[in-house]
Amino acid sequence: MKTLIKFSSLLFIVILNQACKENHSETLPYDDIVQKSAKQYAKMHQTIYPEINNKKFIPRTINDKGQPTLVGIYDWTSGFYAGSLWYLNFLTADSKWEKPALEYTKKLDSIQYWGGNHDVGFIIECSYGNALKKTVSKAFDSVIVQTAKSLATRFHPKAGIIQSWNASKKWNCPVIIDNMMNLELLFHATKISGDSTYYDIAVSHADKTLENHFRPDNSSYHVLNYDVETGDILNRNTHQGLADDSAWARGQAWGLYGFTVCYRETKKPNYLKQAIKIADYIKNHPNLPNDKIPYWDYNASATNETPRDASAAAITASALYELSSFMGVEGEKYENFADKIMLSLSSPNYFADKATNANFLLKHSVGSIPHGVEIDVPLNYADYYFLEALYRHKNINQ
Ligand code: GLY
Repeated sequence: MKTLIKFSSLLFIVILNQACKENHSETLPYDDIVQKSAKQYAKMHQTIYPEINNKKFIPRTINDKGQPTLVGIYDWTSGFYAGSLWYLNFLTADSKWEKPALEYTKKLDSIQYWGGNHDVGFIIECSYGNALKKTVSKAFDSVIVQTAKSLATRFHPKAGIIQSWNASKKWNCPVIIDNMMNLELLFHATKISGDSTYYDIAVSHADKTLENHFRPDNSSYHVLNYDVETGDILNRNTHQGLADDSAWARGQAWGLYGFTVCYRETKKPNYLKQAIKIADYIKNHPNLPNDKIPYWDYNASATNETPRDASAAAITASALYELSSFMGVEGEKYENFADKIMLSLSSPNYFADKATNANFLLKHSVGSIPHGVEIDVPLNYADYYFLEALYRHKNINQ
């Protein structure tokens, strides 16, 4: 009898939990937003495809005339358009996306030999990495491994970090928090090749970032200048944030996403702990507006005129869905937080009307306020992480 009562209570809790979840997720108009995204990107594709054989052919943002600004393959954002086409293929299960996704992916082929900066991880993992979720291809495997080799040339063994940008007047060896996003490619390369060098470099970089990049409140600096011989930190600065000691919104999102990936790939508890700390920093920040779309910097003044950064919100939502999947019931608060972000991004406040916004999905992102560029505009990476978050939301709810 006791066992029966226990079982019934447990069943009741499970059903209640499921009902709450279903009730909650009903509020995100998932099917509608997938359909609208597909229509908008079909229009985008129609508009920009004629440029495919030009040097600049990948849509990154919008220009003053409301047309898409196109970039070439060495731009750090060059992998996101191909990646978005892959996600549209996964989300809609419509094979019409495969051909253009493959075409834009293969255009990035020569990046595998380029070690000019750390962004090769972003470029190749978002394009070829997603292609490999769909296709078994030895040729694509070798692109991942060759890119990892190129990225590894930027590793400084004594300091234990991958150099982000080349030396400049300001910095000897700059390492930015964004660099956490390039580690996924290294883990992928080890899985393909069996060569643990790439895994070891990724772990070393993540450990050093954990040690040096965070403040006591768990926000992160943007740029650290390393002495490559001693591993000492020469300066802690910003490049795209409000101030050296401020919390640039996208930087916090990159850190959250990066440590979540590192936990997925290594199962090291300290990476999970760090991801949770960053998630809590974002979730509980007194300057986070009610709609959960952050200002461009968490230390920027909270006014109606202060630009929001939808890209930071989309990256955060995508990372939170993955993080929540590692945490059982404890993860539900992060999943709910991600749902709230996605609900706002899917609303007309952020999601563009049909055939507007140069056919990008999301409005209101920020590239770099200190440089006066890309302020309150669409950005291809905001769209990419938004689509990825939709895909993750779907997988969690299945
Ligand atoms: N990784 C460059 C940026 O987030 O703007």
